[in-house]
Amino acid sequence: MISHVLPTYNRTSFAFERGEGSWAITADGTRYLDLGAGIAVNVLGHANPELVATLTEQAGKIWHVSNIYQIPQQEKLADLLVENTFADTVFFTNSGTEAAELAIKMVRKYWYEQAQPERIEILTFEGAFHGRSTGAIAAAGSEKMTKGFGPLMPGFKTLPWGDLDALAAAMGKNTAAVMVEPVQGEGGIRPLSDDDLRRIRALCDQHGALLILDEVQCGMGRTGRLFAHEYAGITPDVMMVAKGIGGGFPLGAVLATEEAASGMVAGTHGSTYGGNPLACAVGAKVMEIVATDEFLSEVNRKASLFRQKLEGLVSAHPDIFEGVRGQGLMLGLKMKIAPTEMVAAGYDQHLLTVAAADNTLRLLPPLNISDEDIAEAVTRLDKAAESLDA
Ligand SMILES: Cc1ncc(COP(=O)(O)O)c(C=O)c1O
Repeated sequence: MISHVLPTYNRTSFAFERGEGSWAITADGTRYLDLGAGIAVNVLGHANPELVATLTEQAGKIWHVSNIYQIPQQEKLADLLVENTFADTVFFTNSGTEAAELAIKMVRKYWYEQAQPERIEILTFEGAFHGRSTGAIAAAGSEKMTKGFGPLMPGFKTLPWGDLDALAAAMGKNTAAVMVEPVQGEGGIRPLSDDDLRRIRALCDQHGALLILDEVQCGMGRTGRLFAHEYAGITPDVMMVAKGIGGGFPLGAVLATEEAASGMVAGTHGSTYGGNPLACAVGAKVMEIVATDEFLSEVNRKASLFRQKLEGLVSAHPDIFEGVRGQGLMLGLKMKIAPTEMVAAGYDQHLLTVAAADNTLRLLPPLNISDEDIAEAVTRLDKAAESLDA
């Protein structure tokens, strides 16, 4: 008989009752060190006191109104995002996939209003993950995500990952936009080089296409900059954000330049819940903490410490690991065995990690993980690898 919860996930046998910082705790008190952070979501760890205080204070005032009213918490968060990024304007969603849907609508509407309605094609890359809604799976293009869900939304073309010659050849008068993750997350912690990102920006400029960056997983401080594209010194026209921005409260956003957003006038898009006072109060607090030089330089210091220890781990288990990759605290261990085996061995050591494509194990800890917890994580990874070596 089917489970009461639709069985679209292969779940663990255990559940968590509460959390403290980088630790998730079961009802019987077993403590798991959390290097998954709800898949790059809990950037400030579990039950962060400042976020709990912000959420409960807002919960005692007003939870939800509607986007037909002014929402001061939303304006505050939009101000913070605009002040700290390329963007001139922000729309709030509840998830990454909703951000993908709006990004797609926004670029198509832009070209429609520019009297170039033939520009509908969005170029994406193999290994991409932009979400599970119908537009987002069409953008990912992989059979794993699309099989059985056709017909897919037309107007997407998937190119080999990082093949910029293929991108150059594919661009033309029908190209509306290029949509890409600066660091692929689900695809296996695969970063584009700064040069590649600059070349993608240049190709978009040359062909007059818009650039959509998906920073749902790699954004919000994860790579050691507020947004990963900052390393390359370029800016997108449209950017998708979610996951870390709510610190665990469901929240996403589309950031855009005034030009790219120019078609999205009143009545062209909306959301019942998107940007409600609870989500935006928490999001603004996350931004106030994360978007500071002090916080981001600590992320970089911790990332160097973690990476150095991981290099040692890889050398100690050459049959298990191939190497370390990623940027900041968006780290991947390229595996010589199936990453799911390592995830399971981690559970035995009370350690949470996440598998990804391209035979990669993802390590996405809270961005404020302590140095002691980093050392403890590597000890547990070492024990898990030892159990597999045996
Ligand atoms: C890069 C990227 N884009 C979009 C999404 C979709 O986000 P959500 O699951 O919140 O819809 C994800 C989720 O993993 C992601 O990693």
